[in-house]
Amino acid sequence: MKIFLDTASLKEIREAATLGVVDGITTNPSLLAKESGDPEAILLEICQIVDGPISAEVVATEAEGMVREGRHLASLHENIVVKVPCIAEGLKATKTLSAEGKRVNMTLVFSPAQALLAAKAGARYVSPFVGRLDDISTPGMELVADIIQIFDHYDYDCEVLAASLRHPLHVVEAARMGADIGTMPMSVFTQLLKHPLTDAGLKRFLEDWERTKAQLAAKASR
Ligand code: E4P
Repeated sequence: MKIFLDTASLKEIREAATLGVVDGITTNPSLLAKESGDPEAILLEICQIVDGPISAEVVATEAEGMVREGRHLASLHENIVVKVPCIAEGLKATKTLSAEGKRVNMTLVFSPAQALLAAKAGARYVSPFVGRLDDISTPGMELVADIIQIFDHYDYDCEVLAASLRHPLHVVEAARMGADIGTMPMSVFTQLLKHPLTDAGLKRFLEDWERTKAQLAAKASR
């Protein structure tokens, strides 16, 4: 499964990128609004740090405006993927943008039917929002499973991008189901690596090694 970071923070992206396992970035207007600086400059900077798909979202709500914004965003850098909300106007815009060869990430997907329409319109990625469904007491991971099952029957050139992942179990479940991509905030990404037994095991290895070295040095000096 490809791992994307769901953030517009250059500090977080730089830090995570050093680990060599970040395949792409997803941003949205809320994430960009949290950062200071020009959003386009931030997006371009992200493209310099991570050589993979970088989702940038349109804010127009009618197809014409979405297409205009999408063309502009895609022209900023070849890594930019145009993020379009899953509404009727978004489907129209997706059809146009994908026909022009621009990659679209259809976002705010909350049902298998929406995902099916996104794929039919030519979206390159479909983003089911797991955590936001959990928030309203609806099992978000089931949506990911449903979409994967549906896509397995057909030949859509559309990757399942599990989004709104809020904790490591979401990530593991998405991978277990065979989601193509999981996007997560830095806090979740960091938790993926941490395990207390790894830390305790490493501490003991190093202590044992130091003790052995000291014993060998003492023997040699006798
Ligand atoms: C994905 O593309 C979205 O930006 C993101 O995953 C939303 O996550 P949230 O529901 O935690 O805000």
